[in-house]
Amino acid sequence: MQIERLGGSLGARASGLDLRNWTTELERELRAQLLVHKVLLIPGAILDPEQLLRIAQGFGRVRVHPVVPHVEGHPGVIEIRNFGKARTLNEHWHSDVTFEPEPPDFTLLQAQVVPACGGDTLFANQTQAFEELSVGMKAALSRLRAVHSGGGLARIMGQDQAPEALHPVVRLHPETGEKALYVCRAFTQGFEEMTAPESAPLLEYLYSWAVRPHLTIRITWRPGDLVIWDNRCVQHYALHDHGDEERVLLRVTMGGERPIGESKVLEEPS
Ligand code: SIN
Repeated sequence: MQIERLGGSLGARASGLDLRNWTTELERELRAQLLVHKVLLIPGAILDPEQLLRIAQGFGRVRVHPVVPHVEGHPGVIEIRNFGKARTLNEHWHSDVTFEPEPPDFTLLQAQVVPACGGDTLFANQTQAFEELSVGMKAALSRLRAVHSGGGLARIMGQDQAPEALHPVVRLHPETGEKALYVCRAFTQGFEEMTAPESAPLLEYLYSWAVRPHLTIRITWRPGDLVIWDNRCVQHYALHDHGDEERVLLRVTMGGERPIGESKVLEEPS
């Protein structure tokens, strides 16, 4: 496997792999690379839902999306099919499904059909976003929790339920021990026990801070590209600049753990 960095902050291309010949040794190596680079681009052959699920299972427990319907016969696989702005579900900065109590750790996304140009996906490093804050801001944020809601997505999907979860604003990565900002424009509603207008100024500041250009990479898809990312320390954004051209990707999200923050660690010393 050859590893080549994609940006100054995060991301790497892992090439020389056969996606249809997946081994546990390869999984171990990819997982280790993911903890370093946070986003991996793996060029390869187009997979069907069954093949993608088989690869995903190596990364843990496949989860079924609480709101978006899955591909028939393949719980856990969702098809992201966009035809222009009018049907955009994901043109916003987010980490996946943060409105669940145990949001996914990894996401696997494979391009099936790509537009002639455009339709890139952007990723931003939330560990570096946190590290670059002042000492005072880091301390203040480490005491806060925020409410995340899937109400907007549920409404688009014609559902009444609005799943919600409360998470630390600074998330401790269970495998690397690094801290990352864990709020996103798509799903975060406000800080715990504060009103939306009270929360908005600081949240707006953090949303912009978290996705400054030097923290990002931009992936231009080719059919068969598989991208795997770590939702615990990365946000992403699907750019819909490809008019009405077809763009189809298959996505699987993996079971994660309840996010913990610093205050939780202080409360419960091990
Ligand atoms: C997603 O938001 O999980 C998918 C990103 C994309 O469509 O590029």
